[in-house]
Amino acid sequence: MSSSPPDLSGRHVVLGVTGSIAAYKAASLVRLLKKASAEVQVLMTPDAERFVSSLTLGTLSEGDVLTEVFPDDEDGSWTKHVTLGQWADLFVVAPATAQTIAKLAHGFCDSMLTATALSARCPVLVCPAMDRDMYRHEATQANLERLREIGYDVMPAAHGELASGLVGKGRMPEPEAIRDRVASMVDETPSAGERSSSGGENSLAGTEVLVTAGPTQEPLDPVRVLTNPSTGTMGYVLAEAAARRGGSVTLVTGPTSLSPPSDAEVVQVQTAEEMNEAVQARREEAELVFMAAAVADYAPANPSSTKRKKDDHDLVLHLRRTPDILKALGENKRPDQVLVGFALETDDELENARRKLEEKNLDWIALNNPTEEGSGFGPSTNRVTLLRRGGSAEELPRMPKTEVAEALLDRVTAARQAEGS
Ligand code: CTP
Repeated sequence: MSSSPPDLSGRHVVLGVTGSIAAYKAASLVRLLKKASAEVQVLMTPDAERFVSSLTLGTLSEGDVLTEVFPDDEDGSWTKHVTLGQWADLFVVAPATAQTIAKLAHGFCDSMLTATALSARCPVLVCPAMDRDMYRHEATQANLERLREIGYDVMPAAHGELASGLVGKGRMPEPEAIRDRVASMVDETPSAGERSSSGGENSLAGTEVLVTAGPTQEPLDPVRVLTNPSTGTMGYVLAEAAARRGGSVTLVTGPTSLSPPSDAEVVQVQTAEEMNEAVQARREEAELVFMAAAVADYAPANPSSTKRKKDDHDLVLHLRRTPDILKALGENKRPDQVLVGFALETDDELENARRKLEEKNLDWIALNNPTEEGSGFGPSTNRVTLLRRGGSAEELPRMPKTEVAEALLDRVTAARQAEGS
């Protein structure tokens, strides 16, 4: 508990309240957030109203409390969950019941609270409250783990006397502790206002954006390839985010299992050579280039046209270098073109990333370490350090790749605007 209350002025907090006995503590939480000068929008699940009245929370938050996605007095405002998801700097679910946690973990959207959670672009904080055995249950723990994987921040339940009379873990963390966690989380993220000034809906209108994604596959013979575990997620979410901001996006992608973004022109390739051709053919018009693909540096020098048969000896492969696509872009870069590379480093990370930034003549490089938990290939989250040419390194917190994409676009767009291009 901090002695001087944090300053949350100008910050937008959506507070989701669910049907737990701890819902009465939501009233104190709203008061604490308001005292810290936050703007608070309360959402309740229908069951929460059994424990605390919407009149109480509405009065304290100085606004309407929302429950249904489709309210009875339907006035065409059923997209409010989307607007709220964009407005929020932070979404807090407190108390979060086992039921709501299960729904959030599985993408349900059957109430204003769950639908807004799916639309939210901001960090989400979940504060569980339930009986001891429900909290301990494998299903609840698996759901909480899933939320952490998605990138949500989960506060552990507190130990103490529970409404059932049992003693154990399951109590909602105290409102002061939640308020303090809210303050430290919003400190780490730009406000919705800051996001929209540089990253608004049309901030990339009329801009040609080229994004690469996924691994490449280098054939050894007709049934075998050399490849890497890239899933393509980072490039796909970047392409989607850039298209949402009005960019005219081309996605050049290696083989992935992801659905192609609907608002981008998609070019499917297999090898580094094919990716190079597709990228260099679009180099002239591209204003922003995000090279998120994990391009193979080597390919079999003599792929066989028929299936190689095994024999009793070890197989020695002769590999040849593939083209360095990004380096070639850097060598031919126009002054108004922005090149963003990605560096996967397992050691001497900053030094190696900075060297790539210089050697490939890039404007930005996003560095991540695939061996770090919650980063690199695979997980839906990433922890990225962003380096700008001639600038310092900015360490972003671990967050969903969708938010990494927004943060990257925010930074790059703001810098472009500042330079007047
Ligand atoms: N890249 C590229 N063409 C290649 C290899 C990499 O365009 N043949 C791009 C990647 O898409 C990424 C950046 O270069 O944006 C850095 O990739 P990375 O694999 O980290 O570095 P490499 O340049 O391949 O260097 P090394 O493998 O020695 O670390």
